[in-house]
Amino acid sequence: MSAHGIPIPMMSYPCGPIKGEACIPGDKSISHRSLILGALAIGETRISGLLEGDDVLDTAEAMRAFGAEVTDLGGGEWSVHGVGVGGFCEPDNIIDCGNSGTGVRLIMGAMATSAITATFTGDASLNSRPMARVTDPIALFGAQSIGRTGGRLPMTIIGAVDPVPIRYVVPMPSAQVKSAVLLAGLNVPGKTVVVEKEATRDHTERMLVGFGAEVTVEDTLEGRVITLTGQPELRPQTILVPRDPSSAAFPVCAALITEGSDVLVPNIGLNPTRAGLFATLREMGADLTFENEREEGGEPVADLRSRFSPHLKGIDVDSNRAASMIDEYPILSVVAAFAEGSTVMKGVKELRVKESDRIDAMATGLRKNGVDVDEGEDWWIVHGRGHSNVRGGAICESHLDHRIAMSFMVMGMATQNPVGLDDGSPIATSFPIFERLMSSLGADLKRSKP
Ligand code: S3P
Repeated sequence: MSAHGIPIPMMSYPCGPIKGEACIPGDKSISHRSLILGALAIGETRISGLLEGDDVLDTAEAMRAFGAEVTDLGGGEWSVHGVGVGGFCEPDNIIDCGNSGTGVRLIMGAMATSAITATFTGDASLNSRPMARVTDPIALFGAQSIGRTGGRLPMTIIGAVDPVPIRYVVPMPSAQVKSAVLLAGLNVPGKTVVVEKEATRDHTERMLVGFGAEVTVEDTLEGRVITLTGQPELRPQTILVPRDPSSAAFPVCAALITEGSDVLVPNIGLNPTRAGLFATLREMGADLTFENEREEGGEPVADLRSRFSPHLKGIDVDSNRAASMIDEYPILSVVAAFAEGSTVMKGVKELRVKESDRIDAMATGLRKNGVDVDEGEDWWIVHGRGHSNVRGGAICESHLDHRIAMSFMVMGMATQNPVGLDDGSPIATSFPIFERLMSSLGADLKRSKP
């Protein structure tokens, strides 16, 4: 079933070279955080380049429900009049976060230390994902939660009346959990400390500093120790959202596997906590170059050029890099299918609890299309077939997961036979212009009955 109840079956046909400039929408992680931090500041935050995908629009709606004034000014320009730290009001109705784990987990954190109650729900994918990873730490602040069996949504959070600061070691590599704890810590007197054993994307820390909070980060033997001083007055900001490297991965990888391709992806966010895919692709022999490396709005950005790379080699992907490319494993597995030799991906248990079980969803679709895959609980191996030797010809399931859907559509561009998809509607959650953009570069994507 699609996110909106109407599935969109799609086909991707083998195509000629893709060429041109790929203008990618705004970063999803930074877009969510811009709206939430804007809602927690006092005064007007202006955001340019906001990702207007379903996930982020659901967060905008949620911020309105908590009392912020959020206005779409047109052309990717948004205004948020915030209510200040501790100023959230109690929503009149259930908060529907759609498909978005980032949305729901960050908002649960942001409201958990205010004396209000809110109930959260989502689509079938989100309602099957684990929420204990957030309700455990917010309980330490004094918040209560009641949800379905296994800590699933729908779930009600009763915010702490008298929250106390906590020190929390995040048990899994998760920027969402780290961020939920930091956002909860905003409305708590004293210092909230979060420790992460592996560095995950650090947009929350960077943006909190930008909004005027006192945040220190220390690398210690225990891991990254982030200390937030509670109850700051957040100052409204003017934010330019960089373009999303996780979305850029699709045209970048499509160019690598499609003969004769040459694509330029301008202005891509290259925060080191997000850039693991590009390092991995280069190790595989990808013809990728970064041009005009610079800093914009506190985030490193560059223009990325990707060209057809006929001699990609399978590699052992460094598991220390997993957190910095966690959303890119589905599309990496497609590139790996077109490489010579096997690509080994380890330390990736988190892939099993994303919008879908991404190891299972990709392994099943790859196998159906003639690619051998081995898998275990926290690892998988894709046995590459070389660049012109992937059969294709089968229909894959997207499992309500945008990245699975886009990965298979990219695969069909370079297989011997077209690749089908049961439902492309989830693509709208993060990359609403995917079909149009990829077609303008030369992809042959069609909506069709499977
Ligand atoms: C995100 C964190 C990651 C990532 C997700 C976005 C964020 O999730 O997969 O797409 O914006 O904080 P986890 O925190 O579950 O690793």
